[in-house]
Amino acid sequence: MITKARRVFIKTYGCQMNVYDSERIADVLAAEGFEAAERPEDADLILLNTCHIREKAAEKVYSEVGKLRLMKKAARAEGREVKIAVAGCVAQAEGAEILKRAQAVDVVVGPQSYHLLPALLKREKRAVETEFPADSKFDHLPEPGIRNMHLLPSRLHAHPLQKAHLPAPVAAFLTVQEGCDKFCTFCVVPYTRGAEASRPVAKVVEEAELLASRGVKELTLLGQNVNAYHGEGTDGRTRSLARLIAALSEIDGIERLRYVTSHPRDMSDDLIEAHASLPKLMPYLHLPVQAGSTRVLHAMNRGHDRGFYLRLIEKLRSARPDLALSGDFIVGFPGETEEDFRDTLALVEAVEYASAYSFKYSPRPGTPAAEMAQVPEGEKSERLTRLQALIAKQQAAFNARMRGLDIDVLFEKPGKRPGQIVGRSPWLQAVHADAPEEMIGTVVPVTIDAIGANSLFGALKDASLRERAIA
Ligand code: 5AD
Ligand code: SF4
Repeated sequence: MITKARRVFIKTYGCQMNVYDSERIADVLAAEGFEAAERPEDADLILLNTCHIREKAAEKVYSEVGKLRLMKKAARAEGREVKIAVAGCVAQAEGAEILKRAQAVDVVVGPQSYHLLPALLKREKRAVETEFPADSKFDHLPEPGIRNMHLLPSRLHAHPLQKAHLPAPVAAFLTVQEGCDKFCTFCVVPYTRGAEASRPVAKVVEEAELLASRGVKELTLLGQNVNAYHGEGTDGRTRSLARLIAALSEIDGIERLRYVTSHPRDMSDDLIEAHASLPKLMPYLHLPVQAGSTRVLHAMNRGHDRGFYLRLIEKLRSARPDLALSGDFIVGFPGETEEDFRDTLALVEAVEYASAYSFKYSPRPGTPAAEMAQVPEGEKSERLTRLQALIAKQQAAFNARMRGLDIDVLFEKPGKRPGQIVGRSPWLQAVHADAPEEMIGTVVPVTIDAIGANSLFGALKDASLRERAIA
């Protein structure tokens, strides 16, 4: 008898860590015989991999589940049972409350327990798993199966939902560290992702080699506090992120390395030195500071002041003069005055970011800052507009500086226009050029001749390659 394969629809919210986790979830489910559903309506299992960082995150999940409930009901009317699973940080934060408030949900599973999904799905009763198990989930997850990415209808992948002959992506994420012990007063991560934990060097290298053997050229090492990495080396001693990056640099085929997200306090001297000495480490660093006022940084429990950050940027730039910086900012943190906010603007002016993200502070229940005196919404909005205007100006200036330069582009996928392919500059800008598709997966010098709103355009520097592109 041929039984029809069960189909899953995975919807991913939030950060790259969730994208990576969804890939691992896809691996787990593929090993159980699941195939991808094109739409949630066609799925036997709908899994929401949720994010808790934004405002009213839990409410948004409840409203999404509300919609899915109707879908589940319609399927049942046709004699088909659909399961709904909630994973990720909202699952961790809300736990059993989700089962109470959302009758349609069958499984709630926190970020540390994805290897338990098959067992949880098989249970007769609705199930919650939000413990932080003593043994690492990484020891139980199947090896990364790039083929299984077709289970992910994610815009982040070049070939969503294609089932056969999927080429390996050129750039991949690799989680090396999870969790956070910093307890910034605004942040839920230490509560949802738990204590800091690093994967052993050998495991990371093994996974990187596997990815390289499948054609991956660029790795972005992920961690909530990635530069706090302190994984076990083969001799049992702990290794820093710089040492890990040096080990990954040795892998043939891996041509570019990046890491995200870093905390200024963990930017150790050996990591700064790695930016000078390891050519595969790309000259782009996401180093959030959140605010420019020492008083606010203190209230945020960031563990450093304004001067420390600015000196750190100087050190980094003397190690790697072409280093581009990116950051995160929160405006309207409780108690932030106009003067404090001007310190943020002045810090941004001093650093000159290549790009940056900025957010209005929004209280997270259970975090210390939620209990502090709040800044009125209107002031937050007004400050956000001013900060974003400054950041946009800096980003445009940074991109404009590329005009006329020859830059190395790692091509990743076909472009929108026929004959065009798209890749990334060392500084993470998207670059479009007319070139044959065989160049996907290779690093090629491109002369930049036009600057768009979000990307650069250029022509292959080598004239003979250019002719091939036209032919
Ligand atoms: N309010 C606003 N922004 C926040 N972030 C984290 N928590 C909050 C919050 N409560 C921002 C920080 C962080 C980024 C991922 O999200 O800037 O670096
Ligand atoms: Fe959150 Fe601060 Fe940890 Fe970053 S360092 S994850 S902002 S608590």
